[in-house]
Amino acid sequence: MTDEILESFDGTRKAGSIAAEALDEVSEIIKPGVTTEKIDKLCYEFINDAGAYSAPLFYRGFPKSCCTSTNHIVCHGIPQNKILKEGDIINVDVTALKDGWHGDTSRMFLVGDVSIKAKKLVKATYDSLIKGIKTLKEGSYIGDIGSAIQSHVEAEGFSVVRDFCGHGLGRKFHQAPNILHYGEPKTGERLKLGMLFTIEPMINEGQYNTKVLNDGWTAVTKDKSLSAQFEHTVGVTNKGYEIFTLSKKGLETPIA
Ligand code: MF3
Ligand code: CO
Ligand code: CO
Repeated sequence: MTDEILESFDGTRKAGSIAAEALDEVSEIIKPGVTTEKIDKLCYEFINDAGAYSAPLFYRGFPKSCCTSTNHIVCHGIPQNKILKEGDIINVDVTALKDGWHGDTSRMFLVGDVSIKAKKLVKATYDSLIKGIKTLKEGSYIGDIGSAIQSHVEAEGFSVVRDFCGHGLGRKFHQAPNILHYGEPKTGERLKLGMLFTIEPMINEGQYNTKVLNDGWTAVTKDKSLSAQFEHTVGVTNKGYEIFTLSKKGLETPIA
């Protein structure tokens, strides 16, 4: 690893832990009656207090500090006065910008008791992210990631969203390469030592088609079926990979 790579890994590690800790805090307040505004405020304050910026705030006009995507919302849900109710599932997506480096991560949370099918979707989504991550090493292919995710998800009876993908990041929030969450092994770009990117599969209970609402941000499933997502920021090492956004409190997923 060159000095340049080590520096980018150090920076991303710091940004990533702040983002992951923000989600650990979020998990403590998720319950029926809480608004998505309140989740946003917690993220804003936690990240600010950690000496970082919330990268989503004012990014391309996005109005809030995190994305809150409930039930059939696929991604980019805007925090507002919406009240969480028993049985909802919600993704909270935070990105910390610390000393010039980005750490981007999201998790699902369950509001009270949720349906068995929702739990199955959440588990399949988390497991697919981990299977995607486990393919990573210097010289492997971007297609290996998508293939691992897609084959797991489809075997579970769910579908992989095509309209959004993971992304390179670093000093910029979003940059090349695109990380597709579907595909064929040994296709696409090969991974180079030190590459930094996110893997963030969005998985639908029904069809994979999505549409964006009139607010210009909120993406929903066309068939109104449930959608789930988890996201980690990762880096390619000579041994394989480093995950920069792991929960230090074991709160990676609500369903083991
Ligand atoms: N965090 C999201 C991602 O995973 C991007 C959110 S951009 C925003 O890439 F503007 F919607 F916040
Ligand atoms: Co991302
Ligand atoms: Co994100």
